[in-house]
Amino acid sequence: TRTPTPHDKFSFGLWTVGWNAVDPFGAATREVLDPWEYTAKLAELGAWGITFHDNDVFDFDASDTERADRVGKVKQAADAAGLKIEMVTTNTFTHPVFKDGGLTNNDRSIRRFGLRKILRNVDLAAEMGADVFVMWGGREGAEYDSSKDLNAAFDRYREGLDTVAAYIKQRGYDLRIGLEPKPNEPRGDIFLPTVGHALALIAELDNGDIVGLNPEVGHEQMANLNYTHALGQALNAGKLFHIDLNGQSGLKYDQDKCFGHGDLPSAFFTVDLLENGFPGGGPRYEGPRHFDYKPSRTEGIGGVWDSAKANMEMYLMLAEKARAFRADPVTRELMEAASIPELAVSTLAEGETLDDFLADEASFENFDAEAAGAREYRFVELYQHAMRHLIG
Ligand code: GCO
Ligand code: MN
Ligand code: MN
Ligand code: MN
Repeated sequence: TRTPTPHDKFSFGLWTVGWNAVDPFGAATREVLDPWEYTAKLAELGAWGITFHDNDVFDFDASDTERADRVGKVKQAADAAGLKIEMVTTNTFTHPVFKDGGLTNNDRSIRRFGLRKILRNVDLAAEMGADVFVMWGGREGAEYDSSKDLNAAFDRYREGLDTVAAYIKQRGYDLRIGLEPKPNEPRGDIFLPTVGHALALIAELDNGDIVGLNPEVGHEQMANLNYTHALGQALNAGKLFHIDLNGQSGLKYDQDKCFGHGDLPSAFFTVDLLENGFPGGGPRYEGPRHFDYKPSRTEGIGGVWDSAKANMEMYLMLAEKARAFRADPVTRELMEAASIPELAVSTLAEGETLDDFLADEASFENFDAEAAGAREYRFVELYQHAMRHLIG
């Protein structure tokens, strides 16, 4: 595989390669470097961009001078390495004040504080030249069903999101919000557990036009859902603003493995969609190929860079195979045989009225359901053909 270049638009969260591998059962296995110490290496490996939470760069209780100093150093390092700061996000999950959430905390004073922290960070995102402002509500949720007025919680979630979106508009920032669904961890149950839940809430916002999604591979798979379908529905709704690529093996804790190190066939079809688009055309995702993974706790700093490279190499290997799969005439014949292009044809003809439709005997009265029920699709052969390209 060729080496990645900025043209590939690969980006990494500073909290990914910067994770010191503390987990709930064990101490750190790696040293923490300052965020600006990572940027040159990421650029050297072929990355195009970086992303961060406010508190990846400065402490929760940093003074204004300290904050400005550290942010300046990251920006300087990114500029020097030619890396774009494409997304900035807010940490509303680490500090104990957020143990019951930020936007949906039962305690109103904490909601006001959380919202102010987020708004402050919207300014920072704009200042850094980011395009997307991700909101992952990891602490918005509950362990106990008795702990929340759920109706009020969703009202407050909408209120919070609308306030942030209104602020972006009022300041005239060129920023869009990407909500990141996750079913659980750290809360027992997180609000907006899946892409579908988030889409439904966005549709109810006053300022929902600048609110979309940042779906993560592992998060949909933790809910036993199909990540590629989630991307498909978000694209179809015009709401795929950002992505978090990583790897997850089934229904477990959030594994955050390298992209493709979990469900490989699923990763193949994700890349196929991202690189080749829908078979019949339609909306495309043109944004960053952003990795949100964690270098495993067993890895030292060498393994950190092995894993950063593995994400990009995996993506490029899959992209090459997905392109060959789509270009293969056998694939096209099988897609034709499966009537895939026909799905892009509207079910009612253009200009066909309901009366016309009801009068069309071919569609019902004279329709041979037995014959149609006996047709072949050859979906198995088409999938097998994809596997020939993937591992043959
Ligand atoms: C997680 C999430 C986070 C978010 C990040 C950006 O499961 O921990 O994926 O890594 O992506 O907080 O908002
Ligand atoms: Mn995750
Ligand atoms: Mn994660
Ligand atoms: Mn994520």
